[in-house]
Amino acid sequence: MQSKKIMVIGAGQMGSGIAQVFAQSHFQVKLNDISEEALTKGLNTIEKSLNRSVKKERISQQDKTDTLERLSTTTKLSDAFDCDLVIEAVVENMDVKTKVFGELDKITADHAILASNTSSLPITEIAAATHRPEQVIGMHFMNPVPVMPLVEVIRGLATSDETYQAIDQTTKALHKTPVEVNDYPGFVSNRVLMPMINEAIYTVYEGVATPESVDEVMKLGMNHPMGPLTLADFIGLDTCLYIMEVLYDGFGDSKYRPCPLLRKYVKAGWLGRKTGRGFYLYD
Ligand code: CAA
Ligand code: NAD
Repeated sequence: MQSKKIMVIGAGQMGSGIAQVFAQSHFQVKLNDISEEALTKGLNTIEKSLNRSVKKERISQQDKTDTLERLSTTTKLSDAFDCDLVIEAVVENMDVKTKVFGELDKITADHAILASNTSSLPITEIAAATHRPEQVIGMHFMNPVPVMPLVEVIRGLATSDETYQAIDQTTKALHKTPVEVNDYPGFVSNRVLMPMINEAIYTVYEGVATPESVDEVMKLGMNHPMGPLTLADFIGLDTCLYIMEVLYDGFGDSKYRPCPLLRKYVKAGWLGRKTGRGFYLYD
């Protein structure tokens, strides 16, 4: 399958990036969100990103116009009826995701593949909300989507080889690199990354160092492009907490306990860059 008509569900920081890279690779893209405001914001982000690429002479003005013409927005999930592939990028919550997948199963054509950009939730459980678990798969993009070359492709228990091959090919058509992993909490990326971020939060919580110092240590000492607390703000502290909870519940091991300071920030609504405040302040 070379999916040409796709829908991206959720126009937040990931969904807008995913929609952009598909449209730039000549797919017809419908971007869906429950919120009109999120759709407007998502489209603005895409335009800004394309403008930056035009300015840097990576793409022409015509490429930008053509990309935007391949993109449309909708608040109606039922518009997925003629799509070959749907990629879900809504909030990291199993109830919300299974509801979306249950509805998609009824709306979409029999051949359509349903993919989730979940950071950590079991693909097998998401797939069980449909009558086509063999056509459900994880397609985990990294943030910022237009820049990061990896797509972690996660096989659920029932995912067919045909579905896997289709997503492998689609990922390559986006000029990204697929890496195959099996369905365990946090997959590979967040099982390795998120405990490091959580531990960095513990060092602040325990007064070992300030956020600035922790980030400086990891940037200058380990050559990380951004420190773990800046990265946590960038990912979203709500998403970081959801992922730690999935690891903690999934493995039942105390080494994955979310730091109380992370919980406190999320309860306060300090979710990082997207709300203007996390470990740092943003305009
Ligand atoms: N959207 C589009 N393009 C962006 C961008 C964005 N949000 N942010 C930066 N860029 C582009 C810039 O235009 C620039 O492009 P050129 O090199 O072609 O000029 C390039 O990225 C580098 O940007 P900058 O020079 O402004 O900044 P930088 O060198 O500090 O790089 C960064 C920015 C690429 C984000 C870098 O800091 C980085 O790699 N950070 C770590 C990112 C990371 O770890 N991502 C994974 C998060 S975990 C995840 O996604 C999984 C999960 O489930 C939570
Ligand atoms: P976000 O909060 O920026 O965006 C989520 C969007 O989903 C919002 O615009 C919201 O209005 C919309 N939404 C919520 N319920 C919906 C529904 N039922 N139908 C349609 N739209 C709905 O979140 P994000 O950071 O883009 O994360 C989205 C997904 O991607 C999560 O599963 C997350 O774990 C995963 N992810 C996040 C990152 C990251 O760095 N933030 C990286 C990789 C994967």
